[in-house]
Amino acid sequence: MKKIQDCKVKEIKLLNEDTYILDLELPVVPENIEAGNFAELRVDNTADVFLRRPFSVYSVDYDKKTVGFFVKIIGKGTQLLSQLELNDNLNMIYPLGNSFSTPENKKVLIIGGGSGIAPLVLLGKKQKEAGNDVTFLLGGRAAKDIHLIEEFEQYGEVKITTEDGSLGEKGRVTDHSVFQNITDFTHIFTCGPDPMMHAIGKIAQKNGIECEVSLENTMACGFGACLCCITETTTGNRCVCTEGPVFNVNELTW
Ligand SMILES: Cc1cc2nc3c(=O)[nH]c(=O)nc-3n(C[C@H](O)[C@H](O)[C@H](O)COP(=O)(O)OP(=O)(O)OC[C@H]3O[C@@H](n4cnc5c(N)ncnc54)[C@H](O)[C@@H]3O)c2cc1C
Ligand code: FES
Repeated sequence: MKKIQDCKVKEIKLLNEDTYILDLELPVVPENIEAGNFAELRVDNTADVFLRRPFSVYSVDYDKKTVGFFVKIIGKGTQLLSQLELNDNLNMIYPLGNSFSTPENKKVLIIGGGSGIAPLVLLGKKQKEAGNDVTFLLGGRAAKDIHLIEEFEQYGEVKITTEDGSLGEKGRVTDHSVFQNITDFTHIFTCGPDPMMHAIGKIAQKNGIECEVSLENTMACGFGACLCCITETTTGNRCVCTEGPVFNVNELTW
């Protein structure tokens, strides 16, 4: 059940100049957090960051009562969050949204680009626990944009592409050689920039592979009231915040 909770900053770990992990301590961590769930964080009450900002759950630690977020600075809200200090208070609505499905004993490819890798470590963990054979493909512009490799390696093989070739294979994720034998995989799960997810979705559809994408449409309320996060689907317009963010590509009118 979703809750509005005050929480405390437990740690902010900078990964590079524009990316960090924000660990928040909660009085109560809701049970059954799934990969794909997100939170709406209240950043500030000033006019330019009045609205809450949505972030996928990156990690959950029930013993320490912490929930972690992997955040890329792109504007004022994500900048202000990076400047919080230990024990600062923050208000969040959590958990929101649906989650990726969990097949059993299948071969799954999990593809992340940019800040879209945020929900994918938890996803890899859940997929491995369900007996799936997990491969990760991470993409970025350069080596400095590739994060959390060791965390991903706990749950499967990690493949990498960078556009400048500074780490892994050179090119975009869809240029990676893993796509030469893509029908080896039964499922693809992805989160990242829209053009990347479109390209992956098309390849999956062409090859009859189950594919789920986690959309990052701009959001305001996060609970179905403002309708600013609508996406077009084969069954009409749907709210990404309440009916997503995870959709099967066959439901989308891409
Ligand atoms: C369900 C969901 C989960 C998300 N999970 C994460 C996550 O785990 N980690 C993370 O770093 N980010 C995540 N995002 C994106 C994150 O919410 C935005 O980057 C953040 O709200 C930007 O706030 P800001 O105040 O820093 O930037 P703003 O000042 O609000 O925006 C700066 C620029 O970024 C654009 N922008 C704002 N929001 C988005 C968006 N959602 N998609 C594309 N462009 C946008 C604006 O149009 C503007 O041009 C998620 C978004 C959604 C919808
Ligand atoms: S963000 Fe308001 S309806 Fe989805």
